[in-house]
Amino acid sequence: MTKTAFVTGANKGIGYEIAKRLLEEGYRVLVGARNQERGEAAVAALQAFGDAHLIVLDIADLQSIDRAVATITNQYPELSLLVNNAGIPGDMHKVGWEFDVEELQATHRVNFIGPFALSKGLLPLLIANKGTIQNISIPIEPLPYFNTFAYTTSKAPLNVMTKSWGMSFEKENLPVTIFAVMPGGVTTDLNGNMTGDFMKTPAQAAQLIVGFLLDGENHNGQVINYDGTLAVY
Ligand SMILES: NC(=O)c1ccc[n+]([C@@H]2O[C@H](COP(=O)([O-])OP(=O)(O)OC[C@H]3O[C@@H](n4cnc5c(N)ncnc54)[C@H](OP(=O)(O)O)[C@@H]3O)[C@@H](O)[C@H]2O)c1
Repeated sequence: MTKTAFVTGANKGIGYEIAKRLLEEGYRVLVGARNQERGEAAVAALQAFGDAHLIVLDIADLQSIDRAVATITNQYPELSLLVNNAGIPGDMHKVGWEFDVEELQATHRVNFIGPFALSKGLLPLLIANKGTIQNISIPIEPLPYFNTFAYTTSKAPLNVMTKSWGMSFEKENLPVTIFAVMPGGVTTDLNGNMTGDFMKTPAQAAQLIVGFLLDGENHNGQVINYDGTLAVY
């Protein structure tokens, strides 16, 4: 049977490269994009590497999530991999108390509430197909050189969800796994295409991320750093 993966925010950046790597590995890839035109352009380019299809999804919008879940459940019931990649950093320069609540909620909706709702909606398929949820995340310890309040506080619950759901899957004996990868700095639009010795290209990040999917190990419940070490909270 065709292995089918859904990658959110796959029209550019790391998500696009994850989609490409999965296509090269023989997956059918459902390319998530919130904008129809940008999504169609990405799918047209990705079709050079395999079987790619557009799923329009705004992860900040619960109705859009419901529609995507219904479409995938009806048309791609073989889905066995969900990559929660779509993400935004919020303002990376403001100090914590300068955010207003709406601004903070907008970042949390994209980075946590949306991925939670989508994962919950697709969980029956992922269980039926012994599948995997992979979350693309960041370290959540505020550091002097990386103290991004909206970004960090919105990814923290995603990392907790990864560990919590992983623990519950195991306890309930459910044939599904969840893990997160924190790829380190990657040169993309998200950080104004920052460059430097410590930065990866999106293709290098995707190689790392997909590598953890294909290494044959059970990563359930793990939040994995770019160097393979595990986040311990
Ligand atoms: N870049 C890094 O250094 C780095 C490091 C660690 C983790 N990450 C994580 O990697 C993931 C991908 O980031 P990236 O660096 O590749 O950034 P990017 O180039 O800005 O790509 C972000 C993707 O998410 C999509 N997106 C944003 N808001 C969305 C929404 N409401 N609904 C659906 N899609 C939405 C974007 O779509 P549009 O094109 O429509 O905006 C785009 O496809 C994020 O979760 C990020 O936190 C990045």
